[in-house]
Amino acid sequence: MKILGIETSCDETAVALVDGKGDFSKTFSPVFRVLGNTVLTQIPLHRKYGGVYPSLAKREHAKNLLPVFIETLKKEKGFEKKNRASAFDSQTEAELQKIFVREPELLEQFLKIIPTLKKPKIDAIAVTYGPGLEPALWVGLNFAKALALVWNLPVIPVNHMEGHAVSALLEEKANKKKERGFKKIIYPAVLLLVSGGHTELILIKAPLRYQLLGATRDDAAGEAFDKTARLLGLPYPGGPEIAKLAETFKNSTLSKKTIQKNRFSLPRPMISSDNLDFSFSGLKTAVLYTLQKIPKKTSTVKAEMASEIENAITETLVSKTRKAMESARAKTLILGGGVTANKTIRAAFQKLAEENHLELLIPSAELTTDNALMIALAGYLRAKASEKNLKKSWSAIKKIKANGSLELLK
Ligand code: KG4
Ligand code: ZN
Repeated sequence: MKILGIETSCDETAVALVDGKGDFSKTFSPVFRVLGNTVLTQIPLHRKYGGVYPSLAKREHAKNLLPVFIETLKKEKGFEKKNRASAFDSQTEAELQKIFVREPELLEQFLKIIPTLKKPKIDAIAVTYGPGLEPALWVGLNFAKALALVWNLPVIPVNHMEGHAVSALLEEKANKKKERGFKKIIYPAVLLLVSGGHTELILIKAPLRYQLLGATRDDAAGEAFDKTARLLGLPYPGGPEIAKLAETFKNSTLSKKTIQKNRFSLPRPMISSDNLDFSFSGLKTAVLYTLQKIPKKTSTVKAEMASEIENAITETLVSKTRKAMESARAKTLILGGGVTANKTIRAAFQKLAEENHLELLIPSAELTTDNALMIALAGYLRAKASEKNLKKSWSAIKKIKANGSLELLK
C-alpha cells in the first residue's frame, strides 16, 4: 500500500512516499520501503523573529508544498507528465476554488501543474491535522483534500504527536529489498513525547491505544530550551544551541576541575509532586533572575548556564518518566519529538532504560524533528488497524478539520 505523507504543522514543509506491507495489529510485522522523503525547513526565515511566525510559516508552506511534493515523487515510475494537459471540469475547479480560498497562490500552482501530471500510483494520502499552527496545518490539509478530489484518493488524518511516536519505532537498517521493519514493543509501554509544543507522558497497553498520564501545565520542554536560549542571546531554535554551548562547558577544564559541578542551580520543576505533570515556565524566570545578578555575561557564564538548563530539563524529564514507568510496570520506553535530538537527554534515558532492564526505542537522529515519513507511516498503521479510517467519500474528507479532535492522545 503506497501512502503519501504530508506535514506542514509548524516550520518544515515535508512530503514522503512509503510503500507498506503487512498487518500491524495482529503480528506487528509490517515492513516498508521509503520511496521519497523531502523536508524543507523554514528555520532560517523565522530566526529573525526569535520563533515561528505563523503567517510567514503559512505563506512559505503555500509557496513550497507543491514543489516539495514534485521533488518527492519525481523518481516514481508512472509519475510523469501527460502528453497533453487536460484541464479540470468546471465543477472540480469550483470545488478547488473553495478548498484553496485562503491559499490563492497554491491554487494557482495547483491549477497550472496538476492537470499536466499522470495520476501517481498512490493508495491514500496521510496528512497532519494537528496539533500545530492552524494556518500552517490548513495548507497541508487543503492540499491533501485537493489531491484526493482530483485523483479520487482516501485521506487519513494523522495526529502529529502519533507521528513522533512512530518515528521511534522504525528500524534503521534495510534488507536487500530495501525494506525496513518496525521495532518490537513489549506492552505496557511508556511513551514520552517532547517537542516544541508538547511534553506528554503516555501509557500504551496495545497498538495505537494511548492513555495520557501527564502533560505540561505551561511551557513544553522544547519551548523551555527555546525561551531560555533567547535569554542567553542565542538564535532560534534554542535547543540545539543550548546543547552546543553546554557541550563546550562539559568539555572545558573549568568543568573538569569542579567535577561537573555548576555554579548555577536552577529548579527541577515539580520533580517531587506525586502526579506526572510537568511545568517548565518557572525555568525561564529562574534563568532570567540569575542572569540579572551577573554583571559580566562572559562566554564561560553562558556555557555554564546552558549546561545547567540542559541538566535541569533532563533530570525533570527522567524523574517523571521513571515514576510513570514504575507505576505502569512498563516493559518498553519510547521517546519521540524534536527534543530527543539532544545527546545528553538520549544518554540519560539510555541509562534509565539500562538500570530498569527495559528496551528504549528512540528515533534516529534525522527523524527526531518534524518530517513527513513519520506521518506517512503513522497513516499506514492507522489504515491497516482499521480500514474504517480509510475515508474515501468526499463528504467525509471535506469534514476533516485542522486541530480537530485529539482523541488519540486522551
Ligand atoms: O518535534 P519538533 O521538530 O517540532 C514540534 O513538533 O514542536 O521539535 C522542535 C523542538 C524545538 O523546541 C527545538 O529547540 C527542540 O525541539 N530541539 C532540541 C534539540 N533539537 C531540537 N532541544 C534540545 N536539544 C536539541 N539538540
Ligand atoms: Zn513535531
